[in-house]
Amino acid sequence: MDQRPHERRGHVGARTALIHFRPAHKDDGEALAIMVRWANDPAIRHLFRPFTDQQHAARPKTLVSAASDLASAMESGRQMYFIELDGAVVGEVNLVMNPPHLHEPLGETAWFGIVIGEEEARGKGIGAEAIRFIEEVARGEGAIWAQIGVFEFNERARRLYENLGYHEIARKADATWWKGKLWTDIRMQKQLQVPQPT
Ligand SMILES: CC(C)(COP(=O)(O)OP(=O)(O)OC[C@H]1O[C@@H](n2cnc3c(N)ncnc32)[C@H](O)[C@@H]1OP(=O)(O)O)[C@@H](O)C(=O)NCCC(=O)NCCS
Repeated sequence: MDQRPHERRGHVGARTALIHFRPAHKDDGEALAIMVRWANDPAIRHLFRPFTDQQHAARPKTLVSAASDLASAMESGRQMYFIELDGAVVGEVNLVMNPPHLHEPLGETAWFGIVIGEEEARGKGIGAEAIRFIEEVARGEGAIWAQIGVFEFNERARRLYENLGYHEIARKADATWWKGKLWTDIRMQKQLQVPQPT
């Protein structure tokens, strides 16, 4: 397929479209403002941000704290890509290799995060294309395994990961506060490639 490495042609609802993955840089103020809007969107904020308690969950994300989170994430080796459809940012997907919070890694392991922040972009296959894209990036980084965490109430994300070949490997209790109680984080894993003999 003659696709550039940061582009994928995929099904978006009923049409085929080019989805572009733009590497993030920490001074991208416009994209940062969009991420802050998603981080404060009551429809999705609880699905991708862990909260320790009610006070934490009630605190809005500010541009300043988002900028500092982004800078420290990138300094710690996280690779982030803005997902663009028809020139507009609709989501973000990221990867970090071998972070300390992995569950019992079996070898080189990538950890993924994803948000399709714009409502009209959800449920059209963009999330699936984004995971396929970040899996390719991870293979290029030498990842044999990928792990993802999904809160137990996020059934849509869980179904997506299952459809893409991920299976549950562990449950971390009391991972996030939502609707008056603490909920479990389900850890899922997939083998991305066979290790090369050394
Ligand atoms: C969870 C999330 C990443 C999934 O991404 P998405 O783009 O909405 O997901 P997809 O469209 O790829 O797949 C989800 C559903 O759409 C369906 N779908 C896939 N391709 C489709 C297409 N071409 N047309 C219409 N629907 C499609 C899938 O079958 C799936 O349906 P199902 O829920 O009945 O199984 C996204 O909804 C999101 O970011 N949500 C908010 C934040 C979040 O939950 N992040 C994940 C934290 S773990």
